[in-house]
Amino acid sequence: MSINIQNRRQFLKTSGKATMAMATLPIISKLSPSILMNSNEYVQQPLPYGYAALEPYIDALTMEIHYTKHAAAYAKNLADACVTEKLDTNATSLINLLKNISHYTPKMRNNAGGHYNHELFWQLMKPTPATTPTGALAEAITKTFGSLDAFKTAFGDAAKARFGSGWAWLVVKTDGSLAVSSTPNQDNPLMDVAETKGSPILGLDVWEHAYYLKYQNKRPDYINNWWNLVNWEYVQKRFAEATSI
Ligand SMILES: [Fe+2]
Repeated sequence: MSINIQNRRQFLKTSGKATMAMATLPIISKLSPSILMNSNEYVQQPLPYGYAALEPYIDALTMEIHYTKHAAAYAKNLADACVTEKLDTNATSLINLLKNISHYTPKMRNNAGGHYNHELFWQLMKPTPATTPTGALAEAITKTFGSLDAFKTAFGDAAKARFGSGWAWLVVKTDGSLAVSSTPNQDNPLMDVAETKGSPILGLDVWEHAYYLKYQNKRPDYINNWWNLVNWEYVQKRFAEATSI
């Protein structure tokens, strides 16, 4: 038989177990979802699909090394930096850390960015994606860039032009408008050091570790194929969240 919380509290009060209940409730209230979320977001989460799920566009070996070596190292090194720099991960959200990253060491900047960017990147892809964005995001892309193809060209150009290692982004800026940008290394648009600041809703990893095994030096081929994997439903959700603030 299920008992809702109110009935359960009443039951405990009237059954002689009120003392135990009152001692228990404050402990329960400390485990609020936001606190658990804050602590959890600093930890590498399970990959939402298998290593081979994004074949043929991203090969299984690349995915396995990317997730278990590169991304795992960012999470581990971020944890180390938090200890060294005495950052309370229960009191500071990852996003707030990134927004104030100029106050921390390069190790914190590289690994906080690396961890956040990769956790986002896995969610931005899926094996059987919708082919195009819809709704408010589609309208905003058309309004800003002229068409979806024009947006893809602008985004692809930013990804191709990023010298060395980095990321290309679709960003909702603080005024609610869309922009394409790119950042070096593991920086991202949330950081106070970013040229174009805002909420990243789509991002592409153009570090060689993301594509070199399959594509070698042909970064443009990797970029063009990646569009087959974009999880537009998730991008739309991020767009809705970023524009509702
Ligand atoms: Fe990466």
